[in-house]
Amino acid sequence: MKITLERNPAEQIAAGALIVPVFEGEKEPRFGAAPFVDAGEVAGKAAEFTLLHNPAGAAAARVLLAGAGKADRFDSAEMRKLVAASVRFLKKKKVLSAAVLLEGIRTGAEFASAAVEGAILGDFEPDRHKTGNDKTALASFTVVCPNGTADLDAAVLRGQVLAESQNFTRALANEPANLLTPLKMAAAAREMAQEQGLECEVLERGDLERLGMGALLGVAQGSAEPPALIVLRYRPPAAASAAHLGLVGKGVTFDTGGISIKPSEGMEKMKYDMCGGAAMIGAMRAIAQLKPPLAVTAFIPCVENMPGSRAQRPGDIVTAMSGKTIEVLNTDAEGRLILADALAYARRLGCTHLVDAATLTGAIVVALGHIYTGVFSNNDAMRDRVLRAARAEGERMWPMPLDDEYKEGLKSPFADLANIGTRWGGAITAAIFLKEFAEDTPWVHLDIAGTAYLDEPQPNMPKGPTGLPVRTLVRLATDWTD
Ligand code: BES
Ligand code: MN
Ligand code: ZN
Repeated sequence: MKITLERNPAEQIAAGALIVPVFEGEKEPRFGAAPFVDAGEVAGKAAEFTLLHNPAGAAAARVLLAGAGKADRFDSAEMRKLVAASVRFLKKKKVLSAAVLLEGIRTGAEFASAAVEGAILGDFEPDRHKTGNDKTALASFTVVCPNGTADLDAAVLRGQVLAESQNFTRALANEPANLLTPLKMAAAAREMAQEQGLECEVLERGDLERLGMGALLGVAQGSAEPPALIVLRYRPPAAASAAHLGLVGKGVTFDTGGISIKPSEGMEKMKYDMCGGAAMIGAMRAIAQLKPPLAVTAFIPCVENMPGSRAQRPGDIVTAMSGKTIEVLNTDAEGRLILADALAYARRLGCTHLVDAATLTGAIVVALGHIYTGVFSNNDAMRDRVLRAARAEGERMWPMPLDDEYKEGLKSPFADLANIGTRWGGAITAAIFLKEFAEDTPWVHLDIAGTAYLDEPQPNMPKGPTGLPVRTLVRLATDWTD
């Protein structure tokens, strides 16, 4: 997609369609829109679209009046959604060149960036494996901001990098488990690293054995597919910060549950159990291009959780790299096991701050649904950094508790820890388990089980992976101050 920024008046923009946001209760007098407003056909409600042909006074072939909701609630997140939904609407009509008009108080850098992101994110289709899928990509997108300020050029570029990386994550996350095994995921990370100038190292089974990663290896042993721990390194051009951020992502390429096997209904969605890992790879892709001032290393433990003849059994006791012993009471609580070793390894390699993202628990979906990502932390300042970044990027996140009392549930009479707690507060006990391996390093855990993929299509996004929380992670790195 060709992205451009135009500072000329809206009337002069040539495009297949010029997207014009229309707010509730506001009358759009231009482009022959007035009669539509007067007739009540255009009310400015969100996701309401009216396509005008040969619009009066515009060089564009069409004007798309795009309902934008209440003007005082229209922020950059709404802009991103509006453009994405508009692009999806236009693509259905085979209109493959579009522009959007930014004006009034909505001309800041965050709106320009969000508009570009909306176009690229809205253009994403999860149809890689459909034959004849090459006909509907948006060819060009223009941000029109008459007399726009000088900072908009950088904002447009940044938006492009962010959204392309988010789509990279979505495409990777959507790959089925037969095509994306742990080693294939490592190969995809390595290829991206080569293109973007990142260092990539892949630890294979022998390496993991030498390191004593018994928790990770225990999960992997039920599958014929060997495990991999992907390490991606970004080093800043001039180390302006002493911090070293570690990004740890769950990379379960398929989660059957293992011997504690899951019900078959909906099990196909467990190909998404590597969304956290895919998000870290996508975030590193953007970080490589945006070059923040601190060192960032991503760690992605990749395994397939299968009930093979060598699979671990309920009751097995494994020893994690940190030395802690774990009684595996439920083999379906595998994410925390592989993350335990990856978090410990990130600490060993010198990370001073940690963020992990994982489709970790069904319980977080019960608690927060599909709207908010659950945020857990052992450090208030670190949690605030992440929440601030999330807010700036329009990725909704909500803080969850992590009091010591919850640790009671993870007691085992036979080992240092059990891998599951009692019935209630399952997202919290999972986070408490991880905290044991983050130890005293400032750490944030993002449980993205409810937000990493959509079960139902939305106007701005098809069913499938959302690419969350790539933008938050990138913003966390690029906004970093010590
Ligand atoms: N990958 C699942 C969590 C999950 C559930 C993600 C639904 C997306 C949608 C995870 O490995 C898992 O199975 N968790 C168990 C933990 C339980 C055994 C303590 C769960 O949430 O049921
Ligand atoms: Mn599981
Ligand atoms: Zn899982």
